Amino acid sequence: MRLVVTGAGGMLGQEVVGISTGVHEILAFDHASLDIGDAAAVSATLDASGAECIINCAAYTAVDNCESNTETAYRINSDGPANLAAVAHRLGARLVHVSTDYVFDGTKPTPYVETDKTNPQSVYGASKLSGEHAVLELGHAGIVARTAWVFGQHGANMVKTVLRIKDTVPTLSFVDDQRGSPTSAADLATMLIALADSKHSGLFHVTNAGNVSWFEFVQQILALTGDDPARVLPIKTSDLSPPRPAPRPANSVLDNAALRACGLAPLRSYEAALADVITQLTI
Ligand SMILES: NC(=O)c1ccc[n+]([C@@H]2O[C@H](COP(=O)([O-])OP(=O)(O)OC[C@H]3O[C@@H](n4cnc5c(N)ncnc54)[C@H](OP(=O)(O)O)[C@@H]3O)[C@@H](O)[C@H]2O)c1
Repeated sequence: MRLVVTGAGGMLGQEVVGISTGVHEILAFDHASLDIGDAAAVSATLDASGAECIINCAAYTAVDNCESNTETAYRINSDGPANLAAVAHRLGARLVHVSTDYVFDGTKPTPYVETDKTNPQSVYGASKLSGEHAVLELGHAGIVARTAWVFGQHGANMVKTVLRIKDTVPTLSFVDDQRGSPTSAADLATMLIALADSKHSGLFHVTNAGNVSWFEFVQQILALTGDDPARVLPIKTSDLSPPRPAPRPANSVLDNAALRACGLAPLRSYEAALADVITQLTI
């Protein structure tokens, strides 16, 4: 498959490029080589690419900064996928786009399925939801994979943050009232390629199995590194000082119902993926 990867320098983008290299014919574009918010640049760069599939890993992911940079958030998270959808339409290519659990308000007491009503509470969530719509308008050529709490060996993420700070402070405080499904960037990348290669289209929730609060997740990270998990203290979101500009959903757990309905094997447990990533980061 001739595959274009945008946002190739990010946490997920590097994994998609890594697992596709030598398997697919890859054209990888990081932010410096292609700004997905620039419609003319997207057209000039990709119209002659011969891409059979575009996987978009580019996004404005600074959730709190999105609150004060609404225009930039929409330019990258909404106009960006729309620009890529226009190219995919011209090329007859498939477009695999990544979205977020933040499209939900987090008030549902059980895991969210793909058909649940969205109600983003942040500019980031709203801009990402708008991007989803542009991709889904492609019909059978459009795939949106909503994911959550992504971690991995590349880029900035909770696991790397905890490994960096854990020995610099006696205790660590993390919220115990936000629950989600931590998801390995490498596992997610594998599923994005599987979806690209499949006949399926539409909206999918793609996370590792299981769910946890941030407090419990950080305890597990410390346990896996041989540290004392009792050094992690639970706090409430309302205790965060200063409060974060963007509200987070209390329940971020995504039921991967559409994957199951298509007969695609869901991803393994987040605990198994976490153990692998910690091994990679600590050897
Ligand atoms: N990380 C999570 O926990 C999480 C959770 C749910 C969903 N997601 C989604 O997962 C996808 C991958 O995110 P990630 O975790 O890999 O984030 P990431 O590490 O921040 O990667 C995003 C990449 O997009 C690039 N980018 C930003 N603006 C761009 C533009 N205008 N044109 C082209 N590239 C641009 C960034 O480059 P610069 O850094 O140089 O700007 C960065 O390399 C995103 O769609 C994100 O919304 C992530």
